[in-house]
Amino acid sequence: MKLDINNQTHEVDADGDTPLLWVIRDDLGLTGTKYGCGLAQCGACSVLVDGKVMRSCVTPVDSVVNRKITTIEAIEADAVGKRVVEKWVEHQAPQCGYCQSGQVMAATALLKENPHPSQEEIAAVMINLCRCGTYNAINAAMTDLAGTKEGAK
Ligand code: FES
Ligand code: FES
Repeated sequence: MKLDINNQTHEVDADGDTPLLWVIRDDLGLTGTKYGCGLAQCGACSVLVDGKVMRSCVTPVDSVVNRKITTIEAIEADAVGKRVVEKWVEHQAPQCGYCQSGQVMAATALLKENPHPSQEEIAAVMINLCRCGTYNAINAAMTDLAGTKEGAK
């Protein structure tokens, strides 16, 4: 089957029910997307599909044929994604970094849909788990990006 990943067409030989994450990492070598829980809980495996965040560990690869998949490797080709990465760097959000590609994906998807989310809207969406506890830095970056500083706690 053919997959559109990062604006490139990839011919993939996989069973239709194979998780997209396996194809991205093992078949295509795009290892920026991480495997955490494998159960749609942690968000480490998040990618964008048609601009919306999806957990690739539970997404069958045949469900994303003919859709536009974006991984962390290409997120800075997106204007919103580029701004997110710049703010992540400015606020030094990553510690070990393992969860951060998923965090950036969640942030980008939110800001594409809602450029000025409130603190409540940020909290509702930024639910990816981080073992290093970078939540405060992520929230500071998101508050900057949202331009709603006055709403920050
Ligand atoms: S690895 Fe997919 S949500 Fe945790
Ligand atoms: S930065 Fe280490 S798990 Fe989030």
